[in-house]
Amino acid sequence: MAKSKVVFYCSSCGNETPKWQGKCPACGEWNTLVEHIEKPTPIVKGKSFSLDMPRNAQRIQDVDSQQELRFSTGMGELDRVLGGGAVEGSLVLVGGAPGIGKSTLLLQICSSLCNGRKVLYVSGEESEKQIKLRAQRLRVMPEELFILSETRLSDIIETTNKLQPDILIVDSIQTLYSETNESAPGSVSQVKDCTMSMMHLSKSQGITIFVVGHINKDGAIAGPKVLEHMVDCVLYFEGDSNSSYRLLRAVKNRFGSTNEIGVFEMMDSGLVEVPNPSKMLLDGRPEGASGTCVACVMEGTRPVLAEVQALVTRTTFNVPRRTSDGFDFNRAALLLAVAEKRANMKLSLFDAYINVIGGLQLDEPGADLPVLLAVASSYRDKVIPEDLVAIGEVGLTGEIRSVSQMNARLAEVARLGFKQCIIPKKTSEKLEIPGELQVYYVNNIREAIEFVL
Ligand code: TYD
Ligand code: MG
Repeated sequence: MAKSKVVFYCSSCGNETPKWQGKCPACGEWNTLVEHIEKPTPIVKGKSFSLDMPRNAQRIQDVDSQQELRFSTGMGELDRVLGGGAVEGSLVLVGGAPGIGKSTLLLQICSSLCNGRKVLYVSGEESEKQIKLRAQRLRVMPEELFILSETRLSDIIETTNKLQPDILIVDSIQTLYSETNESAPGSVSQVKDCTMSMMHLSKSQGITIFVVGHINKDGAIAGPKVLEHMVDCVLYFEGDSNSSYRLLRAVKNRFGSTNEIGVFEMMDSGLVEVPNPSKMLLDGRPEGASGTCVACVMEGTRPVLAEVQALVTRTTFNVPRRTSDGFDFNRAALLLAVAEKRANMKLSLFDAYINVIGGLQLDEPGADLPVLLAVASSYRDKVIPEDLVAIGEVGLTGEIRSVSQMNARLAEVARLGFKQCIIPKKTSEKLEIPGELQVYYVNNIREAIEFVL
């Protein structure tokens, strides 16, 4: 028999190392490495999907290639993130901090999932009574929804085999345990074993499975990062603790793009879709204030408008302070350097704080120009017109470069009632400018700054 092997996993990023260390060499987190004994035996006895017979390789042309079958979850924003609905027989991991709304989302979609399908909702966190109370509050009472409060993996698999549901929801993976594994529930090896069993269940029986995974910085519980490579699709539910808005983002999708975001608002009656995120992101903009500029970035196929704020104040330190929230820190440092060199702003004598409102992360080149203009506006203490949006990438020589999908962006800018837009002079697309929008073309950051300030 093959010998067991001891390895150490980081419970934060899932990196594997042969030796224990205080600090994870991959993500730099401290005290997150946990021991994992890798046994050569497969998952759950008798239930595993081990291939007893060696299978013959097939010619790719002969492989039965049906289009993957998709169905709607009843929530347009969730369907969008999944790439146009959930795929039958796939395993979807929904990660997020505790209390962000994962259980609420999955229970809510049950009402439309149950249209012609059988759904089994397994919770290791709440009793059947608690689930019912929550479902009543969310007004989810479909006939074909079955609930089970259970944490033992073998029982869950047995119930699933008996009930034969089309969809299985497991809340959460960290509460499950497999009896064949001696480590505690929530440990890296338990979480991996249980996910592997879920994967076999979904692939062998064609059940679509949604698995909840809590993000936890504490080394005692393995986070969903450890599982990302095993599942078909990884969604993260994010949100600011003091805002009711929630973003759902795909970080991995075997059946679609990972660029899409879904936006929800947590209300008393559960999660409500926000089909128009720009409006929410621009809510409560200050009037007549310097240091703010509106950006338009592409989130997947959808243009989204967001407010960028900057505060530039004379520094009292030897090295000026810089912070950047919602925009890449190194990119911000680069833009400040370009502004110093090419637009004659003495930013090395000033602290600079950059913030994107609404919890959105602007990681797209089109956001360069609005960030730079917000900085310039605060530096000069002059107000950028409120009805203006800036789009463009900033190069190291201070030139403004073109970005993709300009027409889609301009249409969204006009739709939200903005009157002016500054864009790169050179654009590869043939522009169709909406009638009521005034477009200004700029070559470099000097021109852009002189125009708006
Ligand atoms: P929950 O779905 O239990 O979070 P998770 O499963 O991700 O841990 O959401 C819990 C939070 O959501 C809690 O703070 C209360 C809030 N909430 C509402 O505001 N309205 C609702 O209808 C529900 C069900 C929850
Ligand atoms: Mg929950």
